[in-house]
Amino acid sequence: MKIIKLNAIDSTNSFLKEMAVNATLDSFTVVTAKEQTSGRGQMKNKWISEAGKNLTFSVFVRFDKFKIENQKYLSFVVSRSVFEALTTYYLPKLAIKWPNDIMTVNKKICGVLIENSLQKEYITSSVIGIGVNVNQEIFNDELSKATSLKNILGKEVDLDELLNLILERLQENIQLLNDKEFSIIEENYLNVLYKKNIPSMFKTPNGELFMGKIIGVSQEGKLQLELDNETLEEGFGETKSTTS
Ligand code: BTN
Repeated sequence: MKIIKLNAIDSTNSFLKEMAVNATLDSFTVVTAKEQTSGRGQMKNKWISEAGKNLTFSVFVRFDKFKIENQKYLSFVVSRSVFEALTTYYLPKLAIKWPNDIMTVNKKICGVLIENSLQKEYITSSVIGIGVNVNQEIFNDELSKATSLKNILGKEVDLDELLNLILERLQENIQLLNDKEFSIIEENYLNVLYKKNIPSMFKTPNGELFMGKIIGVSQEGKLQLELDNETLEEGFGETKSTTS
């Protein structure tokens, strides 16, 4: 595994994607940055992270005959890998919030942005971007409900130690993916899915509230909700859980 450590860059995902275009990268090439000047999040959001305090890194992974129809399993192994690494720190109420946020005490501690290269029906490679809030103490956007390891544990955490833990878990879990162990991957993810089987309030895109409970994730990666007797499938960004 090759780790490239940068002081500052626009976005480690953008940098690694660009590198992959210009060179033949080995699988598991990693780029970390102390500071991202234009960090990117899900759904074209920005990813804001205080310089030098947190983990912001991306991993290039190459696949052999990995079908697009199985892409949810990649998302599952990435979030599960961060989850497993974070169990080392005994964070309370650690869970994965669909699709791939990591939560502790109902607050977001990590976000994941996966960008795939496709060829016909296959994903040939991915840039897996991971941002973990580690030693940052103040989060301006109160609505984002973010927290960090330091805020929860009351002490600093070593960035390299956590990076190595995540990369170790990621390598192991990507192996499960290469071995097509989809049912194990699904079980590992659903076992720690935030609010699974707990009746909660959800919001439709036009603001209507409804009660439902998460029962799983469809093959297309949509969240499956059960409302009274019917099952509903929601795509990312189409519903919002209004955590109670
Ligand atoms: C999200 O929850 O919205 C996803 C956030 C992903 C942030 C990481 S930080 C490293 C990598 N580079 C980026 O520009 N984004 C990802």
